[in-house]
Amino acid sequence: MNMGRGLLWAGVAVVFGAGFVARPAQEPIKPWVVIVGGSTDGYLSPCGCTKPMSGGIRRRATATRASGEPDRTLVLDGGNLVAGVGRQDEIKAETVAESLRSIGVDALNLTASDARLGSSMVGSIVRLSGSRVVSASIEGVDGIRRSIVKGPFVVTGISPGSEDIVRRLGGRSLTRDAALAAFLDEAKVLDRTPILLWDGDRIGAEALAKAHPSLALIVYRSGSKVPATPFRVGETWLVTPGEKSKAIVRLEFSGGKWSQYRAVALGPEFEDDAQVGAMFKTYLSRVGEERLLEKLPRAPSAAFAGSKRCGSCHPAAYKVWKESRHADALSTLEKGGQDRDPDCVGCHVVGLELDRGFRSRSETPQLSDVGCESCHGPGAAHSAGPTKAPMPQVGAASCRSCHVPDHSPGFDYESYWKKIAH
Ligand code: HEC
Ligand code: HEC
Ligand code: HEC
Ligand code: HEC
Repeated sequence: MNMGRGLLWAGVAVVFGAGFVARPAQEPIKPWVVIVGGSTDGYLSPCGCTKPMSGGIRRRATATRASGEPDRTLVLDGGNLVAGVGRQDEIKAETVAESLRSIGVDALNLTASDARLGSSMVGSIVRLSGSRVVSASIEGVDGIRRSIVKGPFVVTGISPGSEDIVRRLGGRSLTRDAALAAFLDEAKVLDRTPILLWDGDRIGAEALAKAHPSLALIVYRSGSKVPATPFRVGETWLVTPGEKSKAIVRLEFSGGKWSQYRAVALGPEFEDDAQVGAMFKTYLSRVGEERLLEKLPRAPSAAFAGSKRCGSCHPAAYKVWKESRHADALSTLEKGGQDRDPDCVGCHVVGLELDRGFRSRSETPQLSDVGCESCHGPGAAHSAGPTKAPMPQVGAASCRSCHVPDHSPGFDYESYWKKIAH
C-alpha cells in the first residue's frame, strides 16, 4: 500500500517536474467538527431570569450553524429533551425535536426519561427530528435506529434504563454489555470511529471507556457546568453538554485524534436563530391556545384585594411598591410573549397557585404583577376590617418562593430588601 502510494507520488513528480515537492503520506485534510448538545430538560428559552441568561434552542441553533460546514460536521444530542411528562412537556419535546432537525442533528439518543413520554410522543420526536433517534439498548421499536453513520463516524446511544424504555415503548431490551459489543463489532466491520451517547453519568462513562478502549468519544450526562477540559481515559474522550442546554461542546477530529475542545456557553452574544425563533413562537402560541395556564391546579384560598386597594390605606408602602420592578413583572413577560406560559407566570403575578388568585390581566387586573399580596398573602378580609383581620407577620421567607437560585442567583435578603423597604 505504502509502496503503491510512493510510486504514485513518483509518477506525479515526473508529470509536474522538478518544482514538485513530495507531500507527506498524511495529507493535511480539513478536520471534522463534532458539536455536542443535550440535556435541554425543557429549558427552551435561556434558563434563569438574571443577566446574562444563557442557553435556549434559539441561541443553540445560531451557535451550531456557525460551528462548521454541514458536510464536515457531526451534530449530536445526548437526549433528555424534557424533564416531565405533562402536556407542556409534550409540546416542548416536539419543539426541541423540530429545532434539532433544523440545525441538522445527526444522532439523538433515546433516553429513559424521554421514553416516559410514551410511544406516540416518541413517534412524533422520531418524525420531527428527521429520523435521527438512535439506541442500541432496544430492538424492535419502530423508527428507532440502531446506529447512524456519517463521515468517519458511527454513532449509537445506550441507556442504563433500557428496561424502563421497553416497558414504555415495547420491543426488547439489551443489556449494556450486549448492546455495546454489537455496536463495536459493527464499527469494526464498517471501519468507522465509534461514538457513544451514554444516558448516564461520568462514573459510568469512565467504566465504559476502561472496558472498551476502542470507543473514541463518550457523551455523558451531567447536572452541572461543562468542564473547561475534556476527561480522558486512555485515548477515549469523555464530554458532556452540562445541564439545561446552557452550552454546547465543539471539538475537532482529524487523523484519528481529537483536538480543539471548547465549551461554548450560549450567552447573549449568540443572536436568536430566525428559523428556530419561529418554532419557539409557535411553541408559545400552542401553549396559549391550549390554555395550559388555565388548567393549572389551584388550592383553595381566602380572597385577595389587589395592590391598589391596599394602597388606599398604606400610601407610603404603595409608592415604594409602584416604583419597584415588582410592579411591572407581568409586563416583563408580555414583552417576551411568555405571559401565558405556566413556566413563567407564577412568579410574576399574585397567587397563581390559589383559586382566588391571578387568572389573566383582563379578568384579574388587580392581581397582575408581583403585588403586596404576593408577599403578605390574601388581604381582602383585612382591607374590609383592618383591626378585626390583622395581616400576618412576614419576613425573608416570603421572598424565597420566587427568588430561587435559578431565577435570582444573586439574591440576598439584606441588600434586596433595602431596594423595596417600606
Ligand atoms: C381600609 C384601610 C386598609 C386597607 C385597605 C389595608 N390596610 Fe393594612 N392596615 C390598616 C390599618 C389601620 C393597620 C393597622 C392595624 C393595627 O394596628 O391593628 C394595617 C396594618 C397592616 C399591616 C401591619 C400588620 C400588623 O399587624 O402590624 C400590614 C402588613 C398591612 N396592613 C398590609 C396590608 C395589605 C397587604 C393590604 C392589602 C391587601 C392592606 N394592608 C390593606 C389599614 C388598611
Ligand atoms: C421561581 C420564580 C420565577 C420563575 C418560574 C420565572 N421567573 Fe423571571 N424572575 C424571577 C425573579 C425573582 C426575578 C428577579 C431576579 C433578580 O433580579 O434577582 C425575575 C426576573 C425576570 C426577568 C428580568 C431579567 C432582567 O434582568 O431584566 C425576566 C425577563 C424574566 N424574569 C423572565 C422570565 C421568563 C421568560 C420565565 C419563564 C421561562 C420566568 N421569568 C420564570 C422569578 C421567576
Ligand atoms: C416583595 C414582598 C413585599 C411586597 C411586594 C410588599 N411587601 Fe409589605 N412587607 C414585606 C415584608 C417582608 C415586610 C416586613 C419587613 C420587616 O421585617 O420589617 C413588609 C412590611 C410591610 C408593612 C409594615 C408592617 C410592619 O410590621 O410594620 C406594611 C404596612 C406593608 N408591608 C404593606 C405593604 C403594602 C400595602 C404593599 C403593596 C403596596 C406591600 N407591603 C408590598 C414584603 C412585601
Ligand atoms: C411572587 C414572586 C416574588 C416574590 C414573593 C418576591 N419577588 Fe422580588 N421579584 C420578583 C420578580 C418576578 C422580579 C423581577 C420583576 C421584573 O423585573 O419584571 C423581582 C425583582 C425584585 C427586585 C429588583 C431586583 C433589581 O435588581 O432591581 C428586588 C429588590 C426584589 N425583587 C426583592 C424582593 C424581596 C426582598 C422579596 C421578599 C420580601 C421579594 N422580592 C419577593 C418576584 C418576587
